Amino acid sequence: MRILLTGAAGQLGRELKRSLACLGDVIARDRQQLDLARADTLRAAVRTAAPAVIVNAAAYTAVDKAETEPTVADAINALAPAILAEEAKRLGALLIHYSTDYVFDGSKASAYTEDDIPAPLAAYGHSKLAGELAIAASGCRHLIFRTSWVYGLHGVNFLKTMLRLGQERDELRVVDDQFGAPTWTRHLADVTALILARREVPNGLYHLAGAGETSWHGYAEAIFAEAQHAGLMDKAPVVHRIASANYPLPAPRPANSRLDCAKFRRDFDLALPDWRTGLIDCLADARF
Ligand SMILES: NC(=O)c1ccc[n+]([C@@H]2O[C@H](COP(=O)([O-])OP(=O)(O)OC[C@H]3O[C@@H](n4cnc5c(N)ncnc54)[C@H](OP(=O)(O)O)[C@@H]3O)[C@@H](O)[C@H]2O)c1
Repeated sequence: MRILLTGAAGQLGRELKRSLACLGDVIARDRQQLDLARADTLRAAVRTAAPAVIVNAAAYTAVDKAETEPTVADAINALAPAILAEEAKRLGALLIHYSTDYVFDGSKASAYTEDDIPAPLAAYGHSKLAGELAIAASGCRHLIFRTSWVYGLHGVNFLKTMLRLGQERDELRVVDDQFGAPTWTRHLADVTALILARREVPNGLYHLAGAGETSWHGYAEAIFAEAQHAGLMDKAPVVHRIASANYPLPAPRPANSRLDCAKFRRDFDLALPDWRTGLIDCLADARF
């Protein structure tokens, strides 16, 4: 199987490169090698690679910066996936794409299903939703996995920020009124590979996140508890609860980021483990 992987240097891209390796010939491209903002070279690169599967791990993920450069976010998160989808259709290839809980406004009382109507609060969510819609409208074979609170040992994420701040400070303030599930890049990558190893895969949109739920505050406390347990920290900082209103950011975040993954479990007979299991296993890797 020939697989074209975009965004190969991102936090998910790096894990995908590893997890997809046993499936066949992985053509892994980082931003320098394949810039999704350049429509002409993107088309040409897909045609040259002629993959059976395109795995798009590239994205504009600077949620706050997107407020001041929505056109750049749209080019990478909406226009590029549309081109990948067109080229996938032309080749008869399968396109695997990742999207976000930020397509929702967070006002629902329970976890979001794939049938809930998206209503992004900010430019990043708008750009990601436009990408989803373009792929679905293209008629190519596709899987879109909406995930949440992605972390790993590479790249920029909440886990790494907390581990750094925890070494520098005795006290931290973390919001306790946004709820969701942290999702380990390795679990996303492994499940993608497991699905690609099958002869037949369904088509469509799926919610796919770590099982269970927490707040950012609960997540921060878990990080410090598990990091101490793993011998990565001697002493944990005190983590104070604050409201999102007291931590204003350029882009508003949904209060409810919980994704109902029942459709994924039903159709694939697979599920991501509890978010805390992912955290423990990820931290175990940090010891070496
Ligand atoms: N991070 C989260 O919390 C989160 C939550 C929900 C969903 N998601 C989704 O999960 C997927 C993977 O995200 P991630 O966390 O792995 O993000 P990431 O670490 O920011 O990786 C994205 C990669 O895309 C690359 N990229 C940016 N612009 C590009 C361009 N013009 N051409 C080619 N590559 C480009 C980035 O390169 P540079 O490093 O050079 O910029 C980076 O390597 C994305 O679809 C994202 O929307 C993420």
